[in-house]
Amino acid sequence: MVRINPSILSADFGNLERALNAISTADAAHIDVMDNHFVPNLTIGMPVVKRLQEISPIPLDVHLMIENPDTEALRFAEFGVASITFHLEAAKDPIALIGKLREMGVSPAVSVKPATPIEKTFDLLSHLDMVLIMTVEPGFGGQKMIDETLPKIELLKNQIARNKLSVSVQVDGGVTVENIGKLARLGADTFVAGSAVFGHGIPADNIAALKAAAQTN
Ligand code: DX5
Ligand code: ZN
Repeated sequence: MVRINPSILSADFGNLERALNAISTADAAHIDVMDNHFVPNLTIGMPVVKRLQEISPIPLDVHLMIENPDTEALRFAEFGVASITFHLEAAKDPIALIGKLREMGVSPAVSVKPATPIEKTFDLLSHLDMVLIMTVEPGFGGQKMIDETLPKIELLKNQIARNKLSVSVQVDGGVTVENIGKLARLGADTFVAGSAVFGHGIPADNIAALKAAAQTN
C-alpha cells in the first residue's frame, strides 16, 4: 500500500490549519520537529504539535530531529499523535523508548541520517512499525535527493521480508513525482513530500499525482 505523508515544513506557517485542511486526502501529515541542536534549524515545538493534533483532519506522523528523544519523545506522545519517529543517532536506549511509545498507544519508528548504515536498524525491526530512511541531510526542505542513500531502501526491504516482519519503509527528502516510482520499486511504501506537495499548484492534486506515480511504477 502506498502512503503519501505531506510535510508541513513547506506549508505557509502563517496558516497551518489551512495547510492541514488542504492535505486532508493524504494518509497522514508529517510534522518536522527540529531543536537547533540535532539539526541546524528550529521549527515547531510541543505547544504547536499539541494544537495541530487537536485540529488535524488526518493522523499526525511526527518526525523528531532532536537530541534526547529518550525523554522528549514521551512529551510529544502525550498529545495522542499517531506515530513518532526518533533518530537512532540521538537515542540512548532505542528499545526502551520504542516500548514506552507503544505503551502510550503511539506507533514507534526510527530514522537514520544519510551517513548511518541501515544495518543499525536491523536488531530493532521486530519492535518497530516503520523505519524512516532520510534521503537528504535532515534540517531543511527543498533539497535534492542524495542518490547514494537509495540502496538502503532495498537492503531494508529485503531484511524485513527475510524475517517475515510487517514494517513500513518511509523515505523523506527530495521526493518528487519523477522519482517516486523508482523509490516504490526499491521497496518504499510511505513517502514524505514537502515541496512536491506545497511548492506549486494545489496540494490535493499533487498528492494524487504522487500516489498515482508511486502505484504505476
Ligand atoms: C527534512 C525533513 C523533511 C522535509 C522534506 O529534514 O525531514 O520532512 O521537510 O521536504 P522536501 O520534500 O521538500 O525535501
Ligand atoms: Zn521529516
